Amino acid sequence: MTDRLRPLTVPALAAMKARGEKIAVLTAYDASFARELDEAGVDAVLVGDSLGMVMQGEATTLPVTLEHMIYHSRCVARGLRRALLIADLPFMSYPTPIAAAEGAARLIREGGARMVKLEGGRQREAIVRFLVDQNIPVCGHLGLLPQSIHKLGGYAAQATDEASARTLLEDALILQGAGASLLVLECVPALLGEEVSRALTIPVIGIGAGAGCDGQVLVLQDMLGLGSENKPRFVKNFLAGASGISTAIHAYVDAVRSGEFPAAEHGY
Ligand code: KIV
Repeated sequence: MTDRLRPLTVPALAAMKARGEKIAVLTAYDASFARELDEAGVDAVLVGDSLGMVMQGEATTLPVTLEHMIYHSRCVARGLRRALLIADLPFMSYPTPIAAAEGAARLIREGGARMVKLEGGRQREAIVRFLVDQNIPVCGHLGLLPQSIHKLGGYAAQATDEASARTLLEDALILQGAGASLLVLECVPALLGEEVSRALTIPVIGIGAGAGCDGQVLVLQDMLGLGSENKPRFVKNFLAGASGISTAIHAYVDAVRSGEFPAAEHGY
């Protein structure tokens, strides 16, 4: 089997970081886009609970249920051969370690996920540790946490002062210490993204966290220019100027790998 067809594993992502190779991640919610992403060489595909906004037209990710996540994960899994499938544990599906493990087990068994993502820092330590003890790979998510949107009050850059930046770095180290294999860092200053990536041995995947992260993720529909004009500054439309969707996705992968994306204008 060529490398292009061999499933990319969790240790392989860590090896990419160790070799200094950037990791290209995109979201997907259905089989046909998943196939496009896989063929373009995207390393990991995230079935994000952003599907609430992107697929269902909701204002936030909060209405998304575990059943929705399983359904879309299963669709995406059918389109993938190489890329690692990561699925979000949705809002309030992981109040306890047992609840998290039951939800994660369904995402893996029924949804075909190979890693689950959850939002939050030190308050999730016991949950991450419990999942990892059950041999479930975990991706953490720090910075802007869409599942906490009512507490945060809006989709603004996070950890912009020294004290909250220190707290975020501590949280990242705690998640890594609990056994997380990957970390998504959303909407934080580029300097902090670089500092967290250097401090951690696990790969840090940025979205609005600067070029110093070990990889990048965008919502697929955002990078194809779909949706409102009020896109966050970290979004780049890769379809503009491309001959089609497949070319745009290839351009994204190339731009992440070469470090050309994100540029300074996409950061905070
Ligand atoms: O739900 C999602 O798509 C995400 C990404 C924005 C990182 O969490």
